[in-house]
Amino acid sequence: MTTGQRKAVEQLMPQYEIDPLPDTLPLDLIFGNKNPVWMDIGFGNGESIIHAAQRYPDVNFLGIEVHLPGIGHLLIEAKRLNLTNIKIIRNDAVDILKKHITDESLAAVHVYFPDPWHKKRHHKRRIINADFVSLTAKKLKKNGRLHYASDWQPYAEEVRALFKDSLCFSNIEPNHAFAPRPDWRPITKFERRGQKLAHNSYDLIMIRN
Ligand SMILES: C[S@@+](CC[C@H](N)C(=O)[O-])C[C@H]1O[C@@H](n2cnc3c(N)ncnc32)[C@H](O)[C@@H]1O
Repeated sequence: MTTGQRKAVEQLMPQYEIDPLPDTLPLDLIFGNKNPVWMDIGFGNGESIIHAAQRYPDVNFLGIEVHLPGIGHLLIEAKRLNLTNIKIIRNDAVDILKKHITDESLAAVHVYFPDPWHKKRHHKRRIINADFVSLTAKKLKKNGRLHYASDWQPYAEEVRALFKDSLCFSNIEPNHAFAPRPDWRPITKFERRGQKLAHNSYDLIMIRN
């Protein structure tokens, strides 16, 4: 963690972090308005949230991440740009969804470049699985969006197959195809690193029926 990130965590967490966590998050009260809430799971250094929070000022962004240096990076940028539509939680995202998010309360859930766990024996650690699909289906509002992106094709194909069987979601693309990158998802440092290794990116945008 850089000195700047450590300082940001010390000084800015009280402003941006939801802590202590109430049993059920009163999202309207937390953000101080009734705007839609887009959750970003595993936001890394927060580039995607910072980009989208500027582009969509009438949306609230709830970022969940466990990695403190990344959180520090996001806090520095949020403060520099004076963004007031961002809150974060430092915790396990699946736990937060299960225990603290009201059913049918989120307008979108974004999962960008989740850890691919390349080795076969580690695939069970991948965050997107059948349980995750049912859980997000419960937490999204009707017509809410689940947006997944990855540069690891085998993982992207696995997730695409999972959603193909789901009765709760419809792909915005015909033929259950991958989608072009939408304007709310920027190309991040992480994605550029993949591009240098000739990795393509695969976006899946699914709508809650
Ligand atoms: C490969 S990085 C991608 C970061 C970012 N989304 C991006 O596109 O650049 C995956 C991130 O997910 C976070 N993460 C993994 N499992 C998580 C979980 N269960 N809850 C919250 N964050 C998690 C990791 O700490 C890591 O920062």
